[in-house]
Amino acid sequence: MPTFVTSLLGIFSLLALLLCYRASLDIADSLSPQGCRMSWMSPSYVQQQGFNLSWSPLARRYSLWLYREVGWDSVQETGQRTDSLPVIFIPGNAGSSHQIRSIASSATRHYYSSPYVVSPAFASRSLKPLDFFAVEFNEDLSAFHGSTLESQIAYTSQAISYILSFYPLGTKIIVMGHSMGGIVATSLFPSSNISAIITMSTPHTLPPARFDSRIDTLYASLRTSLEEDATPIVSLCGGATDMMIPSDSCILPKSSKGIFRRTVFTSALEGAWTGVGHREMVWCHQVRWRVARAALELGGARRLASRAVILDKWLRDGHALPLEASSLDQDGNLEISDPSKLEVLQIGQNLVLKNPSVSKTYLLPVDDSASSGRLTVFVSQGRISSVSPENASPLRVSVFSCTGHPSTSVHCVTQKPETLKLVPNPVPGKPFPVPHEGSDESDGVVLYEAHIPQINGHHWIGVGVNNVNGQGWIVAGLDFKTPVVSQARTFSLLFGTLSLSVPADEGLATSFMLPNMLSNALVVYRVIPHQTFMPMCSDALLPPLLMHTSHPAETHYFPLATARNRRTLLHTHLLAPFIDQTSYLSSWLNFTIYSSGERGCKREFEKFDVAIDWSATLGRWASRYITTLVCWAAGVASLVVFAAWSQQVYGAPMPSVEQSLINYTRFMFRYLLPGSLAFSILPLPRSLYMGNGGVFLLAPITPLILLIASGLVCVVWWILLLLLTVIGTSSALIFGSRIEKVGVAKRTILSLIVICAMIFVFVPWQVAYLGCWLLHLHTCASSTQYLKREISSNVSEAVPLVDHARRRDSIDSPNYPPPAIQVKGSSDTGDIKRGNANHNLHLLLLMTWLLPLTAPVLAVWVRTLLTAGYTTPFDGDHNFLAVLPFLVLTDFASWTPGALFEKANFEKKVSLRWVLVAIAGTAFLYGSRRPYLVLDVARVAVWGIVICRIGRRYWGGSSWASAA
Ligand SMILES: *[C@@H]1O[C@H](CO)[C@@H](O)[C@H](O)[C@H]1NC(C)=O
Ligand SMILES: *[C@@H]1O[C@H](CO)[C@@H](O)[C@H](O)[C@H]1NC(C)=O
Ligand SMILES: *[C@@H]1O[C@H](CO)[C@@H](O)[C@H](O)[C@H]1NC(C)=O
Ligand SMILES: *[C@@H]1O[C@H](CO)[C@@H](O)[C@H](O)[C@H]1NC(C)=O
Repeated sequence: MPTFVTSLLGIFSLLALLLCYRASLDIADSLSPQGCRMSWMSPSYVQQQGFNLSWSPLARRYSLWLYREVGWDSVQETGQRTDSLPVIFIPGNAGSSHQIRSIASSATRHYYSSPYVVSPAFASRSLKPLDFFAVEFNEDLSAFHGSTLESQIAYTSQAISYILSFYPLGTKIIVMGHSMGGIVATSLFPSSNISAIITMSTPHTLPPARFDSRIDTLYASLRTSLEEDATPIVSLCGGATDMMIPSDSCILPKSSKGIFRRTVFTSALEGAWTGVGHREMVWCHQVRWRVARAALELGGARRLASRAVILDKWLRDGHALPLEASSLDQDGNLEISDPSKLEVLQIGQNLVLKNPSVSKTYLLPVDDSASSGRLTVFVSQGRISSVSPENASPLRVSVFSCTGHPSTSVHCVTQKPETLKLVPNPVPGKPFPVPHEGSDESDGVVLYEAHIPQINGHHWIGVGVNNVNGQGWIVAGLDFKTPVVSQARTFSLLFGTLSLSVPADEGLATSFMLPNMLSNALVVYRVIPHQTFMPMCSDALLPPLLMHTSHPAETHYFPLATARNRRTLLHTHLLAPFIDQTSYLSSWLNFTIYSSGERGCKREFEKFDVAIDWSATLGRWASRYITTLVCWAAGVASLVVFAAWSQQVYGAPMPSVEQSLINYTRFMFRYLLPGSLAFSILPLPRSLYMGNGGVFLLAPITPLILLIASGLVCVVWWILLLLLTVIGTSSALIFGSRIEKVGVAKRTILSLIVICAMIFVFVPWQVAYLGCWLLHLHTCASSTQYLKREISSNVSEAVPLVDHARRRDSIDSPNYPPPAIQVKGSSDTGDIKRGNANHNLHLLLLMTWLLPLTAPVLAVWVRTLLTAGYTTPFDGDHNFLAVLPFLVLTDFASWTPGALFEKANFEKKVSLRWVLVAIAGTAFLYGSRRPYLVLDVARVAVWGIVICRIGRRYWGGSSWASAA
């Protein structure tokens, strides 16, 4: 029966899991809401029959399809147009080739303004339409299984050769990959046939399911090709909204060789500004039309550099300056001597122009006395350099640094920006992004920022306004104040909030920097603006907008005018567990508030409170540490068995599982909890243990996970007990009283050979493991029945054969007297049977916790059987040696009449029970990043146990004994 401590532990962990689950469900809505418009299309798919077995042996299993927009594209037998370019789409884990439809349809409707009529934007240029091919993997579970992934890579590689055989020599293909499809795409390197790769929600640096070592090997080889291959890659990431993969792993590692590698978070993607979920990534209108457009435009680029420029232009988040703008300066030098073309502003005055109707250059004086300043320019419905919203008016604004005197002549040179991007201008009072709707293509305001150094003499900032047509607005201003810096530490937020006051003269931009705040994927901050009065700023050109740049590639925008009822949550994907990002060492919390600075809105916010948002933080922990939890529970289960075996060392009988759980709990509270906490402060490599690199503030997560894992082991034990009772009772009903198994012997070796042969030929060993587990479950059902019968018939002299106080100390005191003398009146066979029963139950607990580590491949196998049947061999996993020790052990346990384990001779010096500590140690140290190692170590350990403690008795008991 569960005791007080174990029940408490079990209930605690169930509640904690429930809380974490609730918190992680909430993440997508609170942290990074989604505003995506649905996309519509009229799809049809043409199967490529020609891509058959003579091209790839996998053609039986997979297929290749061509997308056609009904009524827009001509559907022919082969499908290809004469003058077009190919694109191939690779779906992800359990994905479908049909997912290409949104992007493909958008590309067609971009290229043709109406059926068969090429749109003017493309007719004048030599751009070609696109043929979208998609591979169909029958919703294979590629994320769990390295061999499946390898088959997909081989098939895709052949498909590309096949597709290219229909196009003129030298044609290159654009590759798009969703989720694990992105991994397939980047695994095609090196290939001279690929012009660019666009991946969507792809986990580039960390496999989402880490149960297969072959996936790790694949990722390791990807690392070098990501670093070295010259083909441009863009990775689109959905951010926290993506609940399938942590977006930390979506960030492409920087290439040291200057190769184009761009990570774009959709929260920053110009014109989208929304978090995008994992599946939504392929159909979210705001994203798909940009991807389609980028692919169309790529057709016009021959050179690598120009392909990079195009990707940079159409899939931009503004964290880097436009490649186009920085390479060629169209404005150059300018000499203005016509005073009517100039207008001079006062010092400190902002330029505010609504619906400009005169082309002019406005001069903002730079204050000689002040030190350096910051220039901020906003342009609505116009462009600066190449940056503008879609369908903008012709309005064109240029920014200059000028010298001279306005009354005579002014000499201007183009002022290089530090920031030049499109920022959203949310409608006050509406949520942002608008759910199910999102931003419009033509939304957005161009933001230009530059740092103005101090120069003596007449120095001006010129804002040139050209091509006016009475539309749009321009706001520009210089200000000379320094950012608000607070040295507060995250630690102080544990117990309260931090208030930041906003400087009296807000200007157009106010920056806040909190250099001592921990910026980590596992911490979420909440910003609460205190509003003094509420003019709602509804007529402001740009109501206050908070911009949080949390990672060099990630930016979030929050309108403050609508945030009164909404939490403004600041999170980041910088420094996430298990991901090596040593290149970004600075971890500040920075944010900036922009506004057009009109009088009404100016003093709206007096101060901000910054606090830790615990609910969102908990949700982030939950989504990062599920694998860790499973592996640690396996480690705990192995420590429970260790606790039992330790008692046995001193001669005590094998305790019951309940007793071992209690022993373990005492052991945990005494050593493991403090130990795990201390260990998590060590600066270990990020692939080990908790993957935090020893960040002090994150250390408390470790004991929490240990507690939950221990509680889960207790809960699973209760479930097993229930299961055993049910099985025991029902089999007793069916077969009457338990039939003692005798003389199964000769059959054993034969069946072992048959099973091994089956594993060798087609069943993966994971299936055999499941079989072992089931067999053992059955054995244990008999064991529990036996124990129960014994207890009920022997109530007076029940289980505690050793008195309680001594048993408790048994782990700690090495001089524990052998209690065998104390056992009175118990027959030898009763002892052996009881010992075997308890051994069996302990083994069952351990084997149950190893089951989740094999489950993914089991799922893949079943899935492959269902979709492909036996048409293709299921590669890998046929090593019967991997499961043989479990087969022998569970088989032996099911029939042995003698003791299950007999100590080997050498155990007087070193006890074999330490192999269990090795399993636990591996689980704790490597479990999160390389769970398959736990299984490897467990396998070796069980080999050891079988050889040393069962050894010849297995064969002896079977063939010879029965023959004799
Ligand atoms: C594959 O298709 C090609 C062309 O349709 C055909 O010539 C060839 O015989 C096919 N091969 C097989 C194995 O079906
Ligand atoms: C590129 O495609 C051609 C077919 O057009 C094929 O023969 C060649 O093997 C491919 N190259 C690579 C590296 O895949
Ligand atoms: C915050 O700003 C400082 C100063 O500009 C910079 O060094 C740091 O990298 C920024 N931190 C982040 C996370 O962007
Ligand atoms: C009760 O237990 C003793 C040993 O502890 C054993 O000898 C005896 O046979 C048991 N009684 C029954 C009815 O099983």
